[in-house]
Amino acid sequence: QGIVVRWTASPTADAAREAKLSSPGFGRYFTDHMITATWRTGRGWRDLAIGPLAPFSLQPAALVLHYAQTIFEGLKAYRHDDDSVWLFRPDVNARRFRTSARRLAMPELDETTFVESVAALVRADEPWVPQSTGERTLYLRPFMFATEPFLGYRPATDFRYSVIASPVGSFFADGVQGARLWVSDRFARAGRGGTGAIKCGGNYAAGLAAQKEAEEQGCQQVLHVDPTDGDTVAESGAANLFVVTADGLLVTPELGTILPGVTRDSVLALAAEHGLTAVERRVGLGELRTGCDSGEVVEMFSVGTAAVVTPVLAIQGADFSCRIGTGEPGERSLHIREHLLDIQYGRAADRYGWLHRV
Ligand code: COI
Repeated sequence: QGIVVRWTASPTADAAREAKLSSPGFGRYFTDHMITATWRTGRGWRDLAIGPLAPFSLQPAALVLHYAQTIFEGLKAYRHDDDSVWLFRPDVNARRFRTSARRLAMPELDETTFVESVAALVRADEPWVPQSTGERTLYLRPFMFATEPFLGYRPATDFRYSVIASPVGSFFADGVQGARLWVSDRFARAGRGGTGAIKCGGNYAAGLAAQKEAEEQGCQQVLHVDPTDGDTVAESGAANLFVVTADGLLVTPELGTILPGVTRDSVLALAAEHGLTAVERRVGLGELRTGCDSGEVVEMFSVGTAAVVTPVLAIQGADFSCRIGTGEPGERSLHIREHLLDIQYGRAADRYGWLHRV
């Protein structure tokens, strides 16, 4: 423990909190407290504490506002039926946060401090962890950004680390129903040597125009392809992608320029229990389209902390549209989704030791 808590003088009233917990949406409401800490080069991390949720005060020249030196993570706290509260694989987020920091020339935060700070915030705002109806959780958003006011071009010397928390339901407006993915031939997310494999604000900024285009085309999410060949399937921007084949393979794009997702890794681990052979390899868009037409591709789904496991019902581009399998959520996709949620909510055995009690 040891993290100082400065309690808010104006906590959210029980009735107002319950109203937010019963209809949370995604990322709209925030708890009463937040974690903050500051870094200065030569001095290190200081003042790690929990205080009331409050706006930051930033210099207009703060380097993050100009050169986007900022990284983040996403993980969830789950309430079990006995009211205990658990994080899912927070050590993996902690490790990735360090990898992201290194790639953007930012200071690293040690993994114990990362996990302890997230757990401490969950303990402070424990009443904000929803009951396990649907897929309700408390979403945790650790992030770090450059605060030094400096317009010259080099890594900043001053940073802030923070964690905020938001009660959430489904990431998608229509829940588990299924998504249509839009393949943009105009906007790429990431390429070789870039920042595609880390969780930085810039990747998400680069994907927004494609996301807007997707929504204009009646799709929920983007299917990004590698700009080098215009064919290699990458990820969906907010989630990783999986394909189930008729001969029992569970195929997902290999790591490199995509985010190494915690849910992606967990689903790969669970594949065998669902009679599927997990394969990480290059997946081509052409191959995927052919497989949809031939019946070789029977199911497709996207996975992420926010997206959980969401069936993909169709993919669509400027000059093509193809239905995945029957066009309904796939049986295997739904079983894997339930299995994962059951582990997270303590309803199924945690064979891999993924749960971390707060
Ligand atoms: C997550 O799944 O946790 C993410 O960070 C994706 C974000 C677009 C909500």
